[in-house]
Amino acid sequence: MLPVLLLSSLFAFSQASTITSRTTIDGILLDPSLLIPGRSTCNILNDINPFVPLSCQNTTVQQNTCCFNAPGGHFLQTQFWDYDSPVDFAGPNNSWTIHGLWPNHCDGSFDQFCAPDREVSNITQILQFFGENEILDYMHTFWKDNTGHDETFWEHEFNKHATCMSTLEPQCIENFHDRNDVVIFVKRVISLFQILPTFKFLEAKGIVPSTTKTYAFSDVIAALKSATGKIPTVNCNGRNKQFLNEAWYHFETKGSVIDGIFVHADTDSDSSCADTVFFWPKGVPTPTPTATSTSSAPTPTSTEDKGTIQVFTSTGANVGCILSKGTWSQQTCATFRPTLGSTSGSIKFTSSKGLCAVDPNNATLSCGPDVGVASDFTNSTALMGSLLAFNGSSQFSSDVVPTGTVQSPVFVGGAHPQVLTLVYTRT
Ligand SMILES: *[C@@H]1O[C@H](CO)[C@@H](O)[C@H](O)[C@H]1NC(C)=O
Ligand SMILES: *[C@@H]1O[C@H](CO)[C@@H](O)[C@H](O)[C@H]1NC(C)=O
Ligand SMILES: *[C@@H]1O[C@H](CO)[C@@H](O)[C@H](O)[C@H]1NC(C)=O
Ligand SMILES: *[C@@H]1O[C@H](CO)[C@@H](O)[C@H](O)[C@H]1NC(C)=O
Ligand SMILES: *[C@@H]1O[C@H](CO)[C@@H](O)[C@H](O)[C@H]1NC(C)=O
Ligand SMILES: *[C@@H]1O[C@H](CO)[C@@H](O)[C@H](O)[C@H]1NC(C)=O
Repeated sequence: MLPVLLLSSLFAFSQASTITSRTTIDGILLDPSLLIPGRSTCNILNDINPFVPLSCQNTTVQQNTCCFNAPGGHFLQTQFWDYDSPVDFAGPNNSWTIHGLWPNHCDGSFDQFCAPDREVSNITQILQFFGENEILDYMHTFWKDNTGHDETFWEHEFNKHATCMSTLEPQCIENFHDRNDVVIFVKRVISLFQILPTFKFLEAKGIVPSTTKTYAFSDVIAALKSATGKIPTVNCNGRNKQFLNEAWYHFETKGSVIDGIFVHADTDSDSSCADTVFFWPKGVPTPTPTATSTSSAPTPTSTEDKGTIQVFTSTGANVGCILSKGTWSQQTCATFRPTLGSTSGSIKFTSSKGLCAVDPNNATLSCGPDVGVASDFTNSTALMGSLLAFNGSSQFSSDVVPTGTVQSPVFVGGAHPQVLTLVYTRT
């Protein structure tokens, strides 16, 4: 018999179908038309017939590829966690966003751009023509291009992948007209995305965005597997492939993508993450020095170390560094020597002026001959070995971005207008 169907979600949507006008609740657009976005030319009873094979699992040739997805029989609903994109393009802080729905040949290989004559360049207009304005709003929230070009991104996804779904070809759609295939595709992708709330799946297992906590990658996979019953693909980027960035959920189908059934399947490709990963919050700069970073990760616990403390602003830009008195400036960086701190895993710093500490009266960073006891900082992100934190927080802040010879005091915590992260970089 059939393995886990998407029936829990289908049930949720059938409840939603009693709602007459569309509403969004908790980020979910309740729209009955997402459940079955159109009608295929197939006999739907076929889809639940146990003798009809799942895509990729047929042992004989299936003649009608309107009702059997082939050669693209394995589907991936792909999602992004765009922590490293400008906040306006990254989507909600508490949700992953849609990438697309991709068919492949059951072995990882895939076709693309299968029908140049069916490519579109007016998805917005098509949705408006069909009165699908809520769908369009939903897409502008949850189907984000990380450079802000949503329409172009949707077109790319349709033109590259939807044209390779055999069951979405015009002759397979009952009452095909005015490019309703585009509307059907969009709705099918959204409906699958809605039953795969990656953020909630992770949160349920205590995996939440953090600049200081790391997670075992195996726990991330286990959290998602416990939600779907099947192993997803999860990809990371950033330094050492340590930052969660993409999730791919796999399916095989019974019947058409339009009104058939999607059945969860295991991944057919390797994940690309380190053993220990960050689920980095959106909109917070990562401590990774960008592009120019060729030096290896510093290990600031050795007394032989010396380096600079680079300053990153909330846009992720590396703007100047810390001077020997502990102030922030765009002048020549000071050299700091780290030594082991008084608690396990912590470090202290000394500059040419003296020991560095957080002044308890005004929460500013200072280094000098009058500092009696150096403060403990943690390189709270052990694998990066470089992101400085004080008192459990890696946020520092300042009143103004310094230019020229200006020096800005640096405060611990994020209370001042310019929120900063400090990265110790070994020289
Ligand atoms: C499954 O069906 C497809 C589509 O007809 C066909 O190309 C493929 O050869 C079939 N697989 C097997 C093992 O018969
Ligand atoms: C979308 O573009 C196609 C041409 O590619 C055109 O035939 C169709 O009328 C357009 N649809 C809308 C709603 O603008
Ligand atoms: C998301 O988080 C970032 C960083 O904390 C913040 O700047 C932004 O305002 C947040 N966005 C929303 C919609 O809460
Ligand atoms: C700091 O980095 C070192 C070397 O990577 C590591 O051994 C130590 O555990 C880190 N400290 C903390 C608090 O993570
Ligand atoms: C913080 O207090 C110290 C003295 O305790 C003083 O030297 C320093 O200028 C103060 N910094 C700011 C930004 O107020
Ligand atoms: C450390 O943080 C806690 C709250 O998280 C705060 O109450 C405490 O005052 C902080 N200590 C210092 C020295 O900043």
